[in-house]
Amino acid sequence: MAKIQAPKGVSEYFPPRSTYFEKVRETLIGAAKNAGYSMMELPVFEDTELFIRGVGESTDVVSKEMYTFEDRGGRSITLRPEGTAGVMRSVIEHNLDKGQLPVKVWYSGAFFRAERPQQGRYRQFYQVGIEAIGGSYPEIDAEVIAVAWRSFKTLGLTNFHLDITSLGDAESRSRHRVDLVKFLSGLNLDEATARRAEINPLRLFDDKRAEIIESMKSAPLLLDYLNNESLAHFQKVQELLTNFGVEFRINPRMVRGLDYYTGTTFEFVHDGLGAQSGIGGGGRYDGLMSDLGGADLSGIGFGIGVDRVLLAAEAEGIFVTDERPIESVKLFAIAMGVEAKSYVAGLVNALRDEGISADMAYGDRALKGSMKAADKSGARFSIVIGADELASGQAQLKDMQSGQMQSITIARYSDVTQKIRSL
Ligand code: HAM
Repeated sequence: MAKIQAPKGVSEYFPPRSTYFEKVRETLIGAAKNAGYSMMELPVFEDTELFIRGVGESTDVVSKEMYTFEDRGGRSITLRPEGTAGVMRSVIEHNLDKGQLPVKVWYSGAFFRAERPQQGRYRQFYQVGIEAIGGSYPEIDAEVIAVAWRSFKTLGLTNFHLDITSLGDAESRSRHRVDLVKFLSGLNLDEATARRAEINPLRLFDDKRAEIIESMKSAPLLLDYLNNESLAHFQKVQELLTNFGVEFRINPRMVRGLDYYTGTTFEFVHDGLGAQSGIGGGGRYDGLMSDLGGADLSGIGFGIGVDRVLLAAEAEGIFVTDERPIESVKLFAIAMGVEAKSYVAGLVNALRDEGISADMAYGDRALKGSMKAADKSGARFSIVIGADELASGQAQLKDMQSGQMQSITIARYSDVTQKIRSL
């Protein structure tokens, strides 16, 4: 029978690399928890209208990349292309904004965009994100950026940089928009581009075509239009980041791929990944909640691409993912002979009962094959038990990293459990 393959462009993880993926994801989540964010688990599909209103029609994400279908009840459903709109929907629906503010949540899961697949760009990919909703203090902006920064540092990444800018408040943006639209009307734009520019003229800063990049060089920059309040906020964020030791550069031409952004926006870029170098990004969104029918509260958050952070860690040599799992059991036990097999099965079970992770070699493999399995398993220690060991009540425990052996008592399971626990 013909084999069935995964759909084109999806990322998937299996051992041993999946254990590194998990390590990356747990580290990112750990940084969020460390700063007081609580978990939120949301549906992977939502009413299509949520993303049209939330993310914006001028974006590639909404206009070209959504997985949209009609469900059996004739409703238009879309697989979530990003997480912020869904979090807002849920916060509004469950009145979370009526309690303690800011609402600080993290999420982790699969997201879907029908992009052209390549290394680091997938149609199903994974993000860890955080959102802090209600409260537009510069301290929150700096906190959110620092959480992402810390998560990358904790993983050991060094070859990345952080770009920040401010899109200002509504008043600053509308003054800039007047001048930008005037500027754009002097360019000879094709119909589709002109339409995008009409919905969000900032999109033109993000256009990858050489002639547009060239014409946009003399375009008015939003950063030069910030009013006093927006400028003071942005300066405070920079001051805080500097105090935190978070290095950044100001990039006034940065445009994020989603339309809800206002105020502080940022992007983390890895320098060893080639074209798909954005490992995470985010920013403030003043109008999103009210656009979705909620209160007029501001929020800020980020999304980090777990797939890309794993690639970045591999590119920097932090992980060598093609060998053993990064985390495995503490003890791998090998039985030689029938009698030893029952003893080892019992031992492994007793260790697990005590909360100590353990695994064993199955079947009747030769010692060499079993040792190979122990090595490949990534276990911390291994032990070989045969008739001689059972008779003497002693066996050799091998440290799989150093290769060192030590003799341990195996007369009772509890002897082994205690010994392994102490190591
Ligand atoms: P985003 O920049 O669209 O922002 O995505 C965040 C991250 O997800 C990117 O930096 C990238 O690492 C990863 N990513 C995006 N698309 C793909 C893809 N096709 N394949 C692999 N990785 C990808 C957002 O999604 C916003 N919701 C972030 C945010 C939260 N802003 C405020 N709060």
